[in-house]
Amino acid sequence: MAYYQQPHDVTSLPAWQALREHREQMNDFSMREAFASDPERFKRFSLSSCGLMLDYSKNLIDEKTLGLLVQLAEQSQLGESIQALFSGDLVNASEGRAALHTALRSPIGRSVKLNGVDLIPQVHRVLHQMTELVSRVHSGLWRGYSDKPITEVVNIGIGGSFLGPQLVSEALRPFTQRGVRCHYLANIDGSEFRELTARLDPETTLFIVSSKSFSTLETLKNALAARDWYLALGGPEAELHKHFIAVTSNQTAAIEFGIKAENIFPMWDWVGGRYSLWSAIGLPIALAIGISNFKELLAGAYAMDQHFTQAPLAENMPVLMALLGIWYGNFWGAKSQAILPYDHYLRNFTKHLQQLDMESNGKSVRQDGSPVDFSTGPVIWGGVGCNGQHAYHQLLHQGTELIPADFIVPVNSFSPLADHHQWLFANCLSQSQALMHGKTQAEAEAELRAKGLDEAEVQRLAPHKMVPGNRPSNILALNRIDPFGLGALVALYEHKVFVQSAIWGINAFDQWGVELGKELGQGVYQRLTGQLDTPASDASTQGLIQHFRERHRG
Ligand code: F6P
Repeated sequence: MAYYQQPHDVTSLPAWQALREHREQMNDFSMREAFASDPERFKRFSLSSCGLMLDYSKNLIDEKTLGLLVQLAEQSQLGESIQALFSGDLVNASEGRAALHTALRSPIGRSVKLNGVDLIPQVHRVLHQMTELVSRVHSGLWRGYSDKPITEVVNIGIGGSFLGPQLVSEALRPFTQRGVRCHYLANIDGSEFRELTARLDPETTLFIVSSKSFSTLETLKNALAARDWYLALGGPEAELHKHFIAVTSNQTAAIEFGIKAENIFPMWDWVGGRYSLWSAIGLPIALAIGISNFKELLAGAYAMDQHFTQAPLAENMPVLMALLGIWYGNFWGAKSQAILPYDHYLRNFTKHLQQLDMESNGKSVRQDGSPVDFSTGPVIWGGVGCNGQHAYHQLLHQGTELIPADFIVPVNSFSPLADHHQWLFANCLSQSQALMHGKTQAEAEAELRAKGLDEAEVQRLAPHKMVPGNRPSNILALNRIDPFGLGALVALYEHKVFVQSAIWGINAFDQWGVELGKELGQGVYQRLTGQLDTPASDASTQGLIQHFRERHRG
């Protein structure tokens, strides 16, 4: 099968040139004035799909901007790229792989073929295997070595084998089934391991070793430590299989580790780690919220897939969000993107998007290996509101950088408490409003005069009180954070990231930069531990190795 390559250099497309000129014309564009002169602006620039409402009216755009951005998508042959993604073309050219995470949420009866083989039956076989396990654990049929039911599940995994499942199982805490608590062990850090295991009893704990490759250092070290912990506390070796299962595409390595073949949940090389929460990597999610809710999550993502493949580009939520990101990153010089969920349960959303977006689009060559000469993936940062308002929002309002922000907020809370949720929602809207509206010098002066300050004081303080405004943000409102809505939300961002990669012509599905650190880590470790006595290739690394060796107490 041929590797999928975007044939274009995006900067040479007519729409790119037109957007450059248009950007100059937009220098004096004022969102405030645009709202004042167009009462329909909210209606014009908002849309709903899959239970999500996107308000993108508070952006530095007019109809012409959108028209040109959509032309850019068309001239980049985005439609063909979407088609290539969904039909299993080798969109991950450097690894020679398809990226068919969308097949994981396809209902039975659909067909997604890779090399002539329909993937849907195997996807549903694994879903069935997951259903059985969840049912046995929840009903108490799956028991530990001392015949006690499992009450604690520990997912040992990192990156995509951690961030997605953690996001979802915590975001859907109100849907948690009684009886099983999920924990996550990711880092190679004894403190994390000790803190977690101190709260666990090996008799009632099930470890899921979750690693697509089954070769990730952090995961394997933690899995070995967990096995030692289990044995040290009296767990019989012959009963290990009651406490250790695995999710991996490397069955041989999992069996070598000591996991029984029937306790291995397969995944496939056509699913990227950061897109894998929909596969058996989502086992801790299913154990936490039950298989029906897990299927609802898949249904929400599938609904977004349908929207993405069927809606016209100008009314397509992931496409619009991606185009806005390109507009700011490539034409306004924005270097980062703030993700600001106003919901306690979405507190890990930004972390998941950091991997999803930055590991996907942190690239500087195109699919064909030629270097890009424009910005690609932005820095993704942010966190839960209102907390951020009392920390980093100051920089959004008055800093020197233009930072587009996505506010994500549910209309309904699962924990109504006095008028907390009304205030939370109000704060979300007013932050977005403040970013757009700002406060002019004249308004700042008028406020100070109204307080009775003398003119010298007014002039001294007004520049500090002035807020530039005209800063872009989206609001994404969900009815509530439920499995369907969350599935749609996560899939929305997956597709947004893909659209950007397709327009830029880069590969969103490899991560070679990460591999270099892993390779070098071996040599540094061997020198730290004295297994290798040749010096490191640079004085800094060697000096630091020396520093460690002189002071480390073992
Ligand atoms: O280090 C990067 C990475 O390869 C991610 O892309 C991946 O999600 C993570 O490591 C974990 O990989 P695995 O599931 O193979 O352990």
